[in-house]
Formats: sequence, C-alpha cells, structure tokens
Amino acid sequence: MTIEFNVHSLQETEQLAENLAGLLSPPDVLTLEGDLGAGKTTFTKALARSLGITRTVNSPTFTILKQYEGRVPFNHLDVYRLADSDEDLGWDELFYGDAVSVVEWAHLIEDDLPEERLEIRIQHTGEASRKFVFIPKGERFEKICEAISL
Ligand SMILES: Nc1ncnc2c1ncn2[C@@H]1O[C@H](COP(=O)(O)OP(=O)(O)OP(=O)(O)O)[C@@H](O)[C@H]1O
Ligand SMILES: [Mg+2]
Repeated sequence: MTIEFNVHSLQETEQLAENLAGLLSPPDVLTLEGDLGAGKTTFTKALARSLGITRTVNSPTFTILKQYEGRVPFNHLDVYRLADSDEDLGWDELFYGDAVSVVEWAHLIEDDLPEERLEIRIQHTGEASRKFVFIPKGERFEKICEAISL
C-alpha cells in the first residue's frame, strides 16, 4: 500500500505535515527520503511545530541527532555521515523511547530501524510543487495513512 499527495505550495506541504503530526504519538518513527531541496527539512520543521516544539528545528547534518522537548518529545536524525560506520548509537533506546523520530537518509541504517515505521519519499515536481509518497510499514501506519487528508 502507498498513498500519494500532490502539493502545490509550501503552505500545502506544511499543512500535510501538520495533519500527519496530529495522528502521531511516541515512539512513532518516520523516514524521509528526497533529493537536495526536496523539502525534507521544511516538512520536518512543520511537523515538529505541530508536536509542540517551540525551539527552532534545523537540519542536524553535522550532529546526526538532535533531541527536542515539547508537548511530544521529538528526535531529528540525519544519518548521512554514518554511511560507512558500524557504530551502535543506541538506536533501540531512541526508536522505542518516548519521542517521535524523523530519520533523514534512513536507508543507510535500514537494519537498525524498527519494522513498524512510515516511509515518506518527497519528489520535486515543479518549483513549488512536490509529490509525497507515504509507504506505511505495519498496521499502525497503514491506519494512519488511511486517516490523513489534505
Ligand atoms: N511545496 C513545497 N514543499 C517544500 N518545500 C518547498 C515547496 N515549495 C518550495 N519549497 C522550497 O524548497 C526548499 C526545500 O528545502 P529543504 O531545506 O526543506 O530541502 P531538503 O530536502 O531538506 O534539502 P537538503 O537535502 O539540502 O537538506 C525550501 O527553500 C522551500 O522554501
Ligand atoms: Mg534538509
């Protein structure tokens, strides 16, 4: 099962993130894939805002993991720099803890991801338009995908 959303503006991307955020609870894990400028960080910022994170969420490229306190605790991971590493960074503690997590470049740590998760692929389809493809892994995320509207 996959669900696609075609958005035509930045505002619609933010609305989609907000609608999804309302359906999430810890320890849900989302993975985000998409080329440079696809909108991964934009989507993540809007999602975090809707989870009640008031601090500014920036791309964690040089830190791998940033953790935020909020109404719902939030982990933002960018594992790009772990490409050739076998480091165990305590993934289970993160992915089965009390926060919602977003993982960018998640395919690089595929084996460490929980089986149940929501894969999101963002494609650039025009200057301000994007295609979001949601691929739910497991029953919980199938239900969430069925409930999302835009
Ligand atoms: N519909 C849209 N959804 C998301 N971003 C959009 C949209 N329309 C225009 N943009 C612009 O596209 C850019 C997306 O950048 P963003 O940093 O979110 O991408 P990214 O996927 O995180 O890239 P990188 O891999 O370089 O970190 C922003 O400048 C944003 O304003
Ligand atoms: Mg980014």
